[in-house]
Amino acid sequence: MRNPKKTLLWAGACAIAALLVTGSVQAAPAPAKTAAPTPPMGWNSWNHFAAKIDDATVRAQADAMVSSGLRDAGYRYINIDDTWEGERDAGGVLHTNAKFPDMKALADYVHSKGLKLGIYSSPGAKTCAGFAGSLGHEAQDAKTYAEWGVDYLKYDLCSLTPSVEKAATLEEGHAIEAAAYEKMRDAIKATGRPMVYSLCQYGINQPWRWGASVGGDLWRTTGDISDRFSRMVQIGLSQAGLAKFQKPGHWNDPDMLEVGNGGMKAVEYRTHMSLWAILAAPLLAGNDLSTMTPETLSILANKGVIAIDQDPMGKQGDRVHAEGPLEIWARPLAGGAKAVGLFNLGDRPANMSVTTAEVGLKGPHALHDVWADKDLGKQASFKAVVPAHGVVLLRIAAK
Ligand code: GLA
Repeated sequence: MRNPKKTLLWAGACAIAALLVTGSVQAAPAPAKTAAPTPPMGWNSWNHFAAKIDDATVRAQADAMVSSGLRDAGYRYINIDDTWEGERDAGGVLHTNAKFPDMKALADYVHSKGLKLGIYSSPGAKTCAGFAGSLGHEAQDAKTYAEWGVDYLKYDLCSLTPSVEKAATLEEGHAIEAAAYEKMRDAIKATGRPMVYSLCQYGINQPWRWGASVGGDLWRTTGDISDRFSRMVQIGLSQAGLAKFQKPGHWNDPDMLEVGNGGMKAVEYRTHMSLWAILAAPLLAGNDLSTMTPETLSILANKGVIAIDQDPMGKQGDRVHAEGPLEIWARPLAGGAKAVGLFNLGDRPANMSVTTAEVGLKGPHALHDVWADKDLGKQASFKAVVPAHGVVLLRIAAK
């Protein structure tokens, strides 16, 4: 959502979401099966390439995903976002545009690298960039994706958003989007090909309450991220309180990564990755993998941070404490360990401290500084000078 019209839409959406704080859209039980047992990891074309994405560029990303070591670090999905869509033929079958001459061959190529392919559509008549959406062609499109070998679908509300927002009541509006998401869920299921199902409707009507019940493996919780520190922080912090709506296999999605896109400093990108890991957020790199610097790679590929994000217990973290721009967030990890982020979102270095008791442990525990990859011994409290816009990310052992 990068244009003013969409910003307005988003403002309206926020108003609706605020009205829903009392929870008039009720949570429904989630289906047990999921295609995303841990938060999906991969790459998506939108943040860096937007409409300038084509077959050759996607292949180059797949190549770089492997040669850089990111695939082996856990990144699996190569996701093509909006602007791949062409015209429907007389039978209604959607074809690619000239940028993607042969999607099946591209999927085969991506698969041959040990990676998976993702694609994008909308339940509306048009996608956000004005290309053909799936409205009225859901079963046909799901079949096409399955025939190509698609493994992941991002389904973006786009042109259906006004009907949801202008409905007479919130419930009616929600019923429109829920029906649309269920329709594509059923269409995917009918193909027999497992696909990760990613709902994208910018957080309107609190999708964390109902995303899983309409088949979502993940659901966007916010408007679009941008490659600015202030926007990244605004999105990250807005996730406070959402942990209780998530469960393993069904993830809150605060949008894709901007790491390496150039608008933030390395220290800020480390803050971005750390916050997303504590949030159990999908890690979808949004940069050009084929030209990334060693520093960008070291941020995206950090083993300790990825291990926190992908923790097998699958429990999202939350804010523990905030004082001005200084925030402490913690995430419970498998076996009773904790991930703790000391975030200094202010413009000057700051003294920060945390005790094991503040994050639900008692007395001395083995501390590990994740970015420094350094064991700090057994401590009951920890102090550090945290750089401006920076983070110290700790892993605290259960004992
Ligand atoms: C919306 C989504 C973005 C991206 C664009 C594509 O803005 O939120 O993530 O998919 O559409 O047009």
